[in-house]
Amino acid sequence: MKERVLTGIKPTGFSHLGNYFGAIKPAIELSQNEDLDCFYFIADHHALTTIKNKEELREYTYNIACTWLACGLDPEKVTFYKQSDICEIPELFWILCNCSAKGLMNRAHAYKAIVEKNLECGEDRDYGVNMGLYNYPILMAADILMFDAKRIPVGLDQTQHVEIARDIANCFNSRYEELFTIPESFVEKETSVLVGLDGRKMSKSYGNTIQLFTEEKVLQKTINKIVTDSRMPGEPKDTDNTICKLYKLFVSEEKYNAFANKLCAGLSWGEAKKELFEVMNNFITPMREKYFYFQSHREEVDKILSRGAEKAKKLAAAKLSQIKTAIGM
Ligand code: TRP
Repeated sequence: MKERVLTGIKPTGFSHLGNYFGAIKPAIELSQNEDLDCFYFIADHHALTTIKNKEELREYTYNIACTWLACGLDPEKVTFYKQSDICEIPELFWILCNCSAKGLMNRAHAYKAIVEKNLECGEDRDYGVNMGLYNYPILMAADILMFDAKRIPVGLDQTQHVEIARDIANCFNSRYEELFTIPESFVEKETSVLVGLDGRKMSKSYGNTIQLFTEEKVLQKTINKIVTDSRMPGEPKDTDNTICKLYKLFVSEEKYNAFANKLCAGLSWGEAKKELFEVMNNFITPMREKYFYFQSHREEVDKILSRGAEKAKKLAAAKLSQIKTAIGM
C-alpha cells in the first residue's frame, strides 16, 4: 500500500503568497510523487472556531478550493474534499473524545495561550473559550486517524496537534485493537517562511500579506506598501530588504543578480517595486486566470469536491464500521 499523506487547510482567510510557498506548492509537489497517496481537504469544521459568518465561510471555502486547483492540484491524483462532507468524521471525533485525557487538551498551545492571556487580564481563565476550540485537537485527530494517514505536512504550530493525535491513537490501540496508524508530522523547512510587507514573517495575523489572487491593480498597490528605508534614488542600496527577498522567489539566480546589482548602483525603491511587480505578476498570471475561471464555474468546483468526498466517504464508512465493532457497538 502507498504511504498516505493527509493535510487540512482551514478556510479562515484568502490565500496569500506565504501560504503558496509555505504550504500549497510543497503539497502539490508531494502529490506528484507516485509512491504517495495524498488526501488534502478543506477543514471547514475547524474554521468554525474563528469564522462565525455564513458568507465568509462560503467565500473562504471556495477561495481555498479554487486556489489549490489553480495552483495545479490534480483531483484525479489527490483525494480533495470538504471535511464537512464526511459525516463519519464527527462521529469518530466523539469516540476519540473518550480516549482523550482532559489534561491533554489543557496543555494544547492554542488553548493555553488564551488562558494565559485571560489570567493576565484578570478575566476568568476560560473567558471566550468555546468547546469547539477546546476540542479542536481531537477533531484533528479524527481527520488523521480516520484515513490511516502516516505523513502529515503541517506548519510548526500544528506539530503539537499531531502529537496529540498519536497519543489518542495509542490509547485506542492499546485499549481495543490496533486499528490506527500512528501519524507523523512533516514540517517544511524554515526557508519557506516568507517575509511580509513590513519585513516580518508573512502572516494573516500581522496583516502584512500579499494576497495570491487579486486583480493586477490591487497587487501593484500592495507591492507599493512594502516598507523600505529612506535612501533616495541614486543612492546605493544593499540587498537585505523585503523587495530583494521577494524578487528572488520568482526569477533565476542570474536575473536576481542583475536586479541586485542595479539596486547597489542606485535604482530607486519605486523602480525596484515596479520590477518586483513585473516578475511577480508574470509568475501569478497563468494561475490567476485559472483561479478566476474556477471562481466563475463553481459548479465544476462543487463536482470535484463531491467526487473527492465520495471517495473519502467510502473509506471512512468502512473504517468507522471496524472501529464501532472494535468498541462493542
Ligand atoms: N489545524 C490545521 C491548521 O490550522 C488544519 C487541520 C485540520 C489539519 N485538520 C487537519 C492539518 C489534519 C493536518 C491534518 O492549519
